[in-house]
Amino acid sequence: MEKMKDSKGKQVTCYLVLCVSTAVIGSLQFGFNTGVINAPDEKVKNFIRNVTLVRTGEPMDESTLTTVWSVAVSIFNAGGMIGSLSVGALVDKLGRRKSMLLSNILALIGGGLMGLSSIFTSHELLILGRLVIGVFCGMCTGLTPMYVGEISPTALRGAFGTLHQLGVVIGILVAQILGLEQLLGSQSLWPLLLALTTLPAVVQSVMLIFCPESPRYLLISLNQEDEARQVLTHLRGHSDVEDDIREMKEEAMKMSMEKKVSIPELFRNSAYRQPIIIAIILQLSQQLSGINAVIYYSTEIFRKAGITGPVFATIGMGAVNTIFTVISLFLVERAGRRTLHMIGLAGMTVCVLLMTISLKLAKPEDVILQNGTAISESASEGGISAISVVAILAVFGFVASFEMGPGPIPWFIVAELFSQGPRPAAIAVAGCCNWTASLIVGLSFLPLLKLCGPYVFIIFLILLIIFFVFTYFRVPETKGRTFEDISSGFSNAAGSNAVNYTSPEGAISLPVSPSSDKFQM
Ligand code: GLC
Repeated sequence: MEKMKDSKGKQVTCYLVLCVSTAVIGSLQFGFNTGVINAPDEKVKNFIRNVTLVRTGEPMDESTLTTVWSVAVSIFNAGGMIGSLSVGALVDKLGRRKSMLLSNILALIGGGLMGLSSIFTSHELLILGRLVIGVFCGMCTGLTPMYVGEISPTALRGAFGTLHQLGVVIGILVAQILGLEQLLGSQSLWPLLLALTTLPAVVQSVMLIFCPESPRYLLISLNQEDEARQVLTHLRGHSDVEDDIREMKEEAMKMSMEKKVSIPELFRNSAYRQPIIIAIILQLSQQLSGINAVIYYSTEIFRKAGITGPVFATIGMGAVNTIFTVISLFLVERAGRRTLHMIGLAGMTVCVLLMTISLKLAKPEDVILQNGTAISESASEGGISAISVVAILAVFGFVASFEMGPGPIPWFIVAELFSQGPRPAAIAVAGCCNWTASLIVGLSFLPLLKLCGPYVFIIFLILLIIFFVFTYFRVPETKGRTFEDISSGFSNAAGSNAVNYTSPEGAISLPVSPSSDKFQM
């Protein structure tokens, strides 16, 4: 009987796959636009230089160029902060599906502006396009995990949640490959590469016609029980959806007793304070681990380590990134979120230590970072030293460990930590923190590298250890638990000394000490 229930709980229907795949196009978009600017950077800089040449007859000076370029790169993150923050209000008003549809208009505008920048010889259009596309991607990082989390069966929420990150890494990989000079990364074709984001936006919009509104939104927010039942029946492939309906109704009942949860309310109300702090720190653990510093500057490190064709090594790193996300997808429902997050952080700590040591020990003929730039004699000699190999393996290991936990888990766990009422506000806050941290790393890494050389990675090492300790003491396991169970755990923890924990076998009450973590199980 338990087995039957279990297999039913894990049933994957074609319709569910269609809906999840449609939403994950948003993740692909985020990954693609994150990675797309890196490969053709020199070509885009040439274009920016040329704009002033055409306008004034003189080329842009190097320092203005650096400023314009940094703005073009980082305004994407500023847009992401705006987009992620706006998700809460949007989904409350329009629902999940319509919000996704609407967000695609931004992809069309942003992609269009970037694509036309070259024709109109205007770097302003490029910057504006990057801003709009950033807002769009900020919305994607909230909308996709929310929709996927809400339509997935409880037993598969983690695996489907990881699909968001899989979409992101595939998006990055596609951008790296298409960005090769031989493909779309050439001086004449880069505008087309940047405009390519409009294509998935059209595909997703068409596919959304066949997707339903989230049943949780229908029942809990709109009180449309029959519609919610119909959607669930279709998604699950059977009509025995009473467990889901009962759970949602309980949540709806609780919600009707609470007032609407605004962002400040998340911090004021003791029942939400603990989960929002966990959500924020998990987002910070993702970005302040230094992942994007490594992803963005890997080509430089590989080049100076004597690898001929460093772009291909970067693509190799993208492949490692993708493979380990797939591995995490299969592990997340077995090992659990908390364990995988800790394994990932621990692996990253070891690898970042190896990276620091190997970069430090490397003699000038190996890899050495001087004044923010990796210098290598061996590169010119065509040789590659053992210490360089260690540095490369450490980079690969770093990325692989990231994808085991810190990559995928923070994105989907926020939807799990909150019930329907506070979820949109929580996803908005968490997303905005993620984008802000990513902007900080993006802007500060190069100056810090100039200042500290290879020791810059020590900063990430210390932060990784702090995040590991935090996860060990504070992050609950959410695997296999209903939304209602997880959030009532936090409410009870805030209000009493006992945590009601509904195990698959039934409800049990765990006594906890007031000071201990209420969720360590
Ligand atoms: C996560 C991060 C993103 C990073 C990517 C790398 O999705 O949010 O910033 O680039 O992982 O795989």
